[in-house]
Amino acid sequence: MNRKLFKSIREYKRESVLAPIFVILEVFMEVLIPLQMAKIIDIGIAKGDLEYIVKMGIILVVMAMLALIFGAKAGNYAARAGAGYAKNLRHDIFYKVQEFSFKNIDHFSTSSLVTRMTTDITNVQMAYMMSIRLLARAPIMIVLSLIMTLTISRQIALLFLIVIPLLGGVLIFIAKKAHPHFIKVFDEYDILNNGVQENVNAARVVKAYVREDHEIEKFHKISQTVYDLFTKAEKIVAWNSPTMQFFMYSVILIMVLIGGRSIVFQTMETGELTSVIVYAIQILSSLMMVSFVFVMIMIAEASSDRIVEVLDEVPEMQDKEDAVKEIPDGSIDFDHVDFSYAGEGGNLSLKDVNIHIKSGQTVGIIGGTGSAKSTFVQLIPRLYDVTKGSVKVGGIDVREYNLEALRDQVSMVLQKNVLFSGTIYENIRWGDENASDEEVQRVCKLAQADGFVQEFPAKYNTMIVQGGNNVSGGQRQRLCIARALLKNPKILILDDSTSAVDTKTDALIRKAFREEIPDTTKIIIAQRVSSVEDADVIIVMEDGRIDGIGTSEELLKTNKIYREVYESQVKGGADNE
Ligand SMILES: Nc1ncnc2c1ncn2[C@@H]1O[C@H](COP(=O)(O)OP(=O)(O)OP(=O)(O)O)[C@@H](O)[C@H]1O
Ligand SMILES: [Mg+2]
Repeated sequence: MNRKLFKSIREYKRESVLAPIFVILEVFMEVLIPLQMAKIIDIGIAKGDLEYIVKMGIILVVMAMLALIFGAKAGNYAARAGAGYAKNLRHDIFYKVQEFSFKNIDHFSTSSLVTRMTTDITNVQMAYMMSIRLLARAPIMIVLSLIMTLTISRQIALLFLIVIPLLGGVLIFIAKKAHPHFIKVFDEYDILNNGVQENVNAARVVKAYVREDHEIEKFHKISQTVYDLFTKAEKIVAWNSPTMQFFMYSVILIMVLIGGRSIVFQTMETGELTSVIVYAIQILSSLMMVSFVFVMIMIAEASSDRIVEVLDEVPEMQDKEDAVKEIPDGSIDFDHVDFSYAGEGGNLSLKDVNIHIKSGQTVGIIGGTGSAKSTFVQLIPRLYDVTKGSVKVGGIDVREYNLEALRDQVSMVLQKNVLFSGTIYENIRWGDENASDEEVQRVCKLAQADGFVQEFPAKYNTMIVQGGNNVSGGQRQRLCIARALLKNPKILILDDSTSAVDTKTDALIRKAFREEIPDTTKIIIAQRVSSVEDADVIIVMEDGRIDGIGTSEELLKTNKIYREVYESQVKGGADNE
């Protein structure tokens, strides 16, 4: 397993060491017990010495109980070490994901991150727990049993020396054969989880398009593949048990032959034969356990690689030591900005963008789908870094700022906005957790959300379900605007955030912005001309470039795209009325 992962053991080192120590103690007892039994049979029973039998019997019971206690302790520590290790790993991945920039998140799909945090970590946990418990056990058990056997019969010890590597080799061969099938199973699991997640997340869309049958068939296919692969792998692993049985009975048979002769020639006692048989069983079952652990470790190997991939991902944005914490004003400057989602050399989504926005201005952005409006504004709170050129906020390059400070003062409502499960109060307070009830209500009034919230029976204590599915699209957008406003930002960016709000309410929101937050720079992306018409400047975007900048009046004269959109919406709209 990857060494990097062991760093996450941390405070569970103690348990991880204690487990094998108790295992060793348990093994000692288990090895001594057959010897004790041999004594009872060969001395006590042979001589009919009842007192001796009782005395040795009591010692035997005590030893058995000690073995039980040590075993239980070992199991307990191993379970704690395994579960604690898994907990730490989960924490580490979770922390890491929190550090991810948008670009990092683009690398991994959500379902793959979820699988890594659940199934993969469980695999590593199981392998770790079994390793510290069983890997210490097998070699010690084998060595001690061999030594004990050697004191009884050299011939039988020699027999073990031949059989152990033979059986070990066969078991490892089986595990190796099964390994690739297990790896494939886990890859398929990823696909399965992905399918399930997509389906459940988009349950409403699936229903609306009556795609249930198609989805069921898709699911059925993948789960059949998982079934096939698993059966293949398990079919191979199933050889473990009969192989083991075959070796065990062959060995016992040979031992009885050798032992029988020795007893006849009186070089061995009956009790001694019984105890070497127990040693044989112990050695062989230890080998069997090793082969199980081996399979588990190989499975965990694939999982651990997938976990390390996440832990190794370098968070793309890190604060500088002397990062700027205060943003002087809400001005924004783009200097010859190129941007590509794929990094340098990739397809450019933004090409040579130049723009200077004064603090407190209201800026409208309009342009066709895919013209890079969202891409453009995402560079302002530094959700992505420019590929070339620079973006400045308040006259300072965004890369110079402390990220948290920058994003606190550049508040953005994402196009794909979501609410979280919790009350409306809790959701809005994402913007500022210390805000009073009155402040929350004030920003909701500004965002024209107060009206409908007051109509809910529980008002601001109404529970929002995951994703915000129990409020309408327009209501959700207004709550998201309120949440962004609560930060009291110097720059407010709304990415198509009133698309589901009716025109009248949309106008009221803009009016409130004008009157209540005049000093905040407001950037409004919209599909509707009416949403940006009264802005100080309107930017027309086309295919990653700025096609025109100016007021609505100016653009009507100079910009073809704007004129077409305007005419199709405003004039067309007027004609229809
Ligand atoms: N996360 C991403 N990874 C890779 N490419 C992306 C990503 N997001 C957007 N793009 C690409 O960048 C281009 C611009 O997309 P963008 O989302 O900025 O357009 P938009 O103007 O906001 O469109 P819309 O009006 O539909 O919201 C598109 O070609 C899109 O495919
Ligand atoms: Mg967009």
